Amino acid sequence: TTVAVILAGGTGERIGLKLPKQLIKVAGKPVLRHTLETFVATDRIAEIIILMTPNFVEDVEKIVADLGSDKPITVLAGGSTRSETTMKAIAALDGRECNILLHDAVRPLVDQRIIGDCVTALARHEAIDVAIPSADTIIVTEPAEGGEIISDIPDRAKLRRGQTPQGFRLSVLRRAYELAMQDPDFKATDDCGVVRRYLPEVPIYVVHGSEQNMKITHPVDIYLADRLFQLGSHLAPVQASREAYEAGIAGRTAVVLGG
Ligand code: CTP
Repeated sequence: TTVAVILAGGTGERIGLKLPKQLIKVAGKPVLRHTLETFVATDRIAEIIILMTPNFVEDVEKIVADLGSDKPITVLAGGSTRSETTMKAIAALDGRECNILLHDAVRPLVDQRIIGDCVTALARHEAIDVAIPSADTIIVTEPAEGGEIISDIPDRAKLRRGQTPQGFRLSVLRRAYELAMQDPDFKATDDCGVVRRYLPEVPIYVVHGSEQNMKITHPVDIYLADRLFQLGSHLAPVQASREAYEAGIAGRTAVVLGG
């Protein structure tokens, strides 16, 4: 079975509102409700655990009650960092053997195709990530007098932008975090980073994400997400033509190479 873990323990400092951004209303519903609805609707997800910012657990319990889903949905308090929130999810699944998909609550435009592709990939791989090609060139910088300078420009064709879900055999994620906890210099921004660092022998397979699967991070993202939800049905053809989309990327690269 596959258990979905919705990471909603943050406070949304960069958005800077009183309410955590996962509770902000977008297209008429809290962000977290949009995210939940998609996981509830995906029949390949057996069970859902939500980890929420401690002072807002009751708000989420209300959202879950409103949803009226038959699926088992547990609401727990998250930790003070994203990794601590993940560790609380691992603890909640103590003694279980299952696959888990960890998803950012603040990516409400995730779709059933991505979730399904993750579940399928986890049947063959112990760890998976979701990513998309980068349209922007990514530069690496280093501090310099009065600001920073470029220290590297990696080949864009190899770069991907990491999204979520990230999926694991629970035993693999548990082992990675056990090792991480013994490292006094531990720091991480995502769970694949923890597996990559502490279990480098485990290959992490990459599942294709989507441009719409954006993370609500800055104020402008609330506006963008709202517009994307309003466009909703118009986006379906875009999702359906994933191959055409990928071919388009290849086409553009060819133009760049040719020019
Ligand atoms: N998250 C979490 N527990 C934390 C911190 C973050 O579960 N202690 C979750 C967030 O709720 C979000 C996801 O991890 O769904 C991605 O994190 P991010 O966008 O950084 O969210 P925040 O930490 O809320 O935002 P900020 O960094 O601006 O404070």
